[in-house]
Amino acid sequence: MNFDFSESFVSQPFIMIIFGATGDLSYNKLVPALFKLFKKHRITEEFLIIGFSRRDMTDEQFRESFVELSKEKEWEFFAKHLRYQKGDFSQKKGYFELIDKLNEFDKRMGACITRFFYLATPPNNYETILNFLYKTKLSEGCGQGSNRWTRIIIEKPFGKDLKTAIKLDRILSTIFEEKQIFRVDHYLGKETVQNIIAFRFANGIFEPVWNKKYIDNIQITFAEKKGVETRGKFFDGVGILRDVGQNHLMQLLAAVAMERPKKFEREPVREERAKVIKAIRDIRPSGINKFVVRGQYKGYKKEKDVDINSKTETFTAIKLFVDTKRFKNVPFYLRLGKKMPKDDVNISIFFKQISHELFKEYGSMEKEKANVLTIRIQPNEGISLKLIAKKPGAKLSLEEVNMKFRYDEEFEEKVFDAYEKILLDIFEGDQMLFNRSDELASSWKFITGILKGWEEYKTKMLMYNEYTFGPKEAFDLIEKDGRKWIE
Ligand code: BG6
Repeated sequence: MNFDFSESFVSQPFIMIIFGATGDLSYNKLVPALFKLFKKHRITEEFLIIGFSRRDMTDEQFRESFVELSKEKEWEFFAKHLRYQKGDFSQKKGYFELIDKLNEFDKRMGACITRFFYLATPPNNYETILNFLYKTKLSEGCGQGSNRWTRIIIEKPFGKDLKTAIKLDRILSTIFEEKQIFRVDHYLGKETVQNIIAFRFANGIFEPVWNKKYIDNIQITFAEKKGVETRGKFFDGVGILRDVGQNHLMQLLAAVAMERPKKFEREPVREERAKVIKAIRDIRPSGINKFVVRGQYKGYKKEKDVDINSKTETFTAIKLFVDTKRFKNVPFYLRLGKKMPKDDVNISIFFKQISHELFKEYGSMEKEKANVLTIRIQPNEGISLKLIAKKPGAKLSLEEVNMKFRYDEEFEEKVFDAYEKILLDIFEGDQMLFNRSDELASSWKFITGILKGWEEYKTKMLMYNEYTFGPKEAFDLIEKDGRKWIE
């Protein structure tokens, strides 16, 4: 993989089959990203996208259902590549009709065209679809029993817990080879997440201080203003810890805490990510209330498709440790929530304050005021560094100032959408930004420990006011250590 993928161009014809084509992911992320790649001429003109879902629809109705996209002038050309296949995931019929459509395209092209099966359905359908792909030999593609012609793309949540994730992985690996499997975590495709690696390892000034000697604590915030919107049914079945904690948050943590990969290549990078996730110290069920807070926003139970007695969490705060030499005993504070006061995803590294003693007679040098490096994932992607400076004037007085870098100010190119990047890598067969199964197993092990703790200790669900940063206990979690959440 190259950091500058602005020149990437997929020249090979392809077919993408989207299972769950009438779902949110397909409408909001996948098809828009494919359309953008098409408009930017990043993909060949020889491709076919087949939406596979239960709903009864013609090709034309499927095309028209992308109401916003179809207003754009290039849509007409893109939409010619879109087809629809009605199918019940658990009935052979749809799969056989799909085979006819695929063969027809191959015939027209005069070759076996690579087929990308994208599982964008609720996760409870994965096993059924995989079994049918296997039974109907769709998994083999058209090339004589070889696996060269197919790829499988599977979205998170990958399982419900450690046990189900292992089971799913076993099914996947009996049908596909590892090089055909793309386990998506779109956070890995985000420009700012990739930049953490460049930032840490391409700037010599950070490596010497990136450790327990200089770092006091690390905070990761994943805050969304929105609630569950149209995804009540899905979300109520998983909760925020599984929805974003097990995956996006673990990947943000990995990017900031991993060791330097030996090479900037697929396996060394995946290896370091996997190692650091494995090094997260388990939270024992008995420690659950000391290290984890869970909450639900007050209006959640009234959301569409949400159980009126729901016990699903929409907020979690966690204090954890990463048992590597570099970070031994440095606390990591994570908070993730819906209906927060603002959209804000960031990682903040709080460095130890060493000079407050020296300046203690000169103003506001409170102990917690220190250098803070904030990597802003979104919005306003960029990096800022909080410094202490002398305020202009005859007397010595100290104040915090910010040094900032913003992507949109520094670079003319627009930040690439994560799904565009993910799709380009899938088409090119580059798995660096996709989860390896051991990474997933380790993150599930950690998350399953928390889920078990909640169950065994019947942890209270703390209700919080919408548009606040969660219940009071989330503040206590960090404040009892003499620290504060970043504002
Ligand atoms: C998805 C989660 O994976 O990520 C959503 O299922 C969440 O609940 C979304 O809103 C956030 O992604 P992004 O790219 O909008 O930050």
